[in-house]
Amino acid sequence: MRDDYVHGYSEREASRLHDQARTLAKLLHHDTRYPAGSEVLEAGCGVGAQTISLAGNSPDARITSVDISPDSIAEASKLLDVAGITNVDLVAADIFKPPFGEESFDHVFVCFLLEHLADPVAALRVLRGLLREGGTITVIEGDHGSAFFHPDSERARAAIQCLIDSQARLGGDALIGRRLFPLLSEVGFRDVSVSPRFVYADASRPEMVEGFTRNTFTAMVEGARDTAVSMGLTGADAMDEGVRDLYRTADVDGTFCYTFFKAVAKK
Ligand SMILES: C[S@@+](CC[C@H](N)C(=O)[O-])C[C@H]1O[C@@H](n2cnc3c(N)ncnc32)[C@H](O)[C@@H]1O
Repeated sequence: MRDDYVHGYSEREASRLHDQARTLAKLLHHDTRYPAGSEVLEAGCGVGAQTISLAGNSPDARITSVDISPDSIAEASKLLDVAGITNVDLVAADIFKPPFGEESFDHVFVCFLLEHLADPVAALRVLRGLLREGGTITVIEGDHGSAFFHPDSERARAAIQCLIDSQARLGGDALIGRRLFPLLSEVGFRDVSVSPRFVYADASRPEMVEGFTRNTFTAMVEGARDTAVSMGLTGADAMDEGVRDLYRTADVDGTFCYTFFKAVAKK
């Protein structure tokens, strides 16, 4: 169990990752299709929440999904079995010590991993090394600075800031979405193309309200409560009030906006 991962590895967090992936599958995955026979590395696959979309959209590609947490890999394995997905190999490994040779893959896919790493540039260098010449990397990350909502609430904004600050203290960057272009360029990737993926939820889109506002974003801020309090960033009451105000934006007159960033680049 690693303790430098702000979201932790609880059952609730696994369920949040699945909700997030289901709600956002079309928005984030619709334009990622890998050719038959291509070899794809998914780095930081967690409990397999994105693996389902990745493998389903490219049924004839061979996907190797890696995570540092053997427990998450075991969960992912159960999920893929239930879903009847057979084109994925799951590997428990640290992407900084990859059990693969240089230039082993045609494509690399990364989702919500770089935001948790102290050295995303080093991680991208390793991943670039694993790619064959001409291969692509796809990176999807959020940016919590992009969240705005109605009713606006200073307490809710403060609670989000506590998540950003606690992630920063653990060495991550919850604002990394806006940095994808410079990060990929710095590592030497070419043809870097970033597309913002805007999420908007109101009562006319109940699946977005449930799947994103409540079960993805607010659940994530709520999940960071104890970490933020134990770091002395806030009091429990202040955090609870902020989370309550975030849930309030899921009411019938509330709205919620957020932007993910998806980058594709070539080696
Ligand atoms: C927020 S989760 C995202 C999981 C999945 N990509 C998704 O979108 O649902 C981040 C994952 O990265 C994994 N991770 C963190 N550092 C890693 C490393 N050095 N090597 C491999 N996996 C790592 C964590 O164990 C965790 O499962």
